[in-house]
Amino acid sequence: MKIEGQSFVVTGGCGFIGANLVKDLVNRGAGEVRVLDKELREASLGDAQASGRVKLYKVDVTRPQELLGPMKGAQGLFHMAVLPLGPSNTDLRMALDINVVGGFNVYDAAVQGGIQKVVYSSASSVYGDTDAVVDESHPLNTVNMYGATKLTGELLLRAFATHKGLGYVILRYMNVYGPGQTGGLINAVINRLRQNQPPLVFGLGNQSFDYVHVSDIVQANIAAMASEVSGEAFNVGGDEEFSVLQIIGILQKLMGTDMKPEFRPAPSGDVGRRVGSSQKARRMLGYQPSVPFSEGLRQLVGTGARA
Ligand SMILES: NC(=O)c1ccc[n+]([C@@H]2O[C@H](COP(=O)([O-])OP(=O)(O)OC[C@H]3O[C@@H](n4cnc5c(N)ncnc54)[C@H](O)[C@@H]3O)[C@@H](O)[C@H]2O)c1
Repeated sequence: MKIEGQSFVVTGGCGFIGANLVKDLVNRGAGEVRVLDKELREASLGDAQASGRVKLYKVDVTRPQELLGPMKGAQGLFHMAVLPLGPSNTDLRMALDINVVGGFNVYDAAVQGGIQKVVYSSASSVYGDTDAVVDESHPLNTVNMYGATKLTGELLLRAFATHKGLGYVILRYMNVYGPGQTGGLINAVINRLRQNQPPLVFGLGNQSFDYVHVSDIVQANIAAMASEVSGEAFNVGGDEEFSVLQIIGILQKLMGTDMKPEFRPAPSGDVGRRVGSSQKARRMLGYQPSVPFSEGLRQLVGTGARA
């Protein structure tokens, strides 16, 4: 599906990744971008609204009747609305309502509205805790509620493809970072260092992750929507691995401090390693991560220093 001139729905479009995607869709000449979110944080959309092609809908995905109008006549849907990891793992029922029933409502409304293709934001959490570098054939061993709901969102989408002919691509993101993010390790460390406080490390700090810049996640979403590919799941990562202590080290260098981190006990269920292979997305979607981690951190800290 081409992007230029077409109408797209972005659920969770005022969130971190959604807002970055909305801006990119506008820049690529999308005819209309319908932003669905239960909290309309217009500031997150920057200049995108000045284009006159962004429409905002205050919509809760748990209320099916609110979804029908905004879906009508759009060609593509990016489903990003979510109860995030932390709250999902403490309020299990709310996670079920928003991520599972909400997902069902979104797909159902998409079918009724005539949408042809859905790109679903899934997560590497579906693989569970593993030391292996995961590709898409890795068993789906999630044991927490967030992972369970993200995986169920995938399965429901497959069912809608079977019964209603909905086209889809599933993208399983590794750890995303970049402008507009409010939570997460990188923000927490930068904020502590800015306040001259030692960064906090939960556990030994040797937990390691695959970090991917939000602009590369946006690129993968666009490629997934634009390509003819349907019925596939892809990892989307940066193909680089960094431990918590390495990340703190890079940030300290960029910010010109060497404050010793403070160590705290690791929370239960903490993941030791989460690293993915994005080879399939490279091969089938032409995905190519373009922001090296050190460069992304440098931009975020906003200094001229080199990591
Ligand atoms: N950020 C990451 O590192 C990461 C990693 C893996 C997967 N993902 C997935 O990417 C997607 C976007 O993540 P994000 O980091 O931008 O999250 P975010 O929390 O920044 O944005 C989610 C948005 O969904 C909206 N929302 C929540 N409940 C809603 C409801 N009931 N109805 C309508 N809108 C609702 C929120 O208001 C928010 O704007 C999610 O599906 C998430 O599971 C993110």
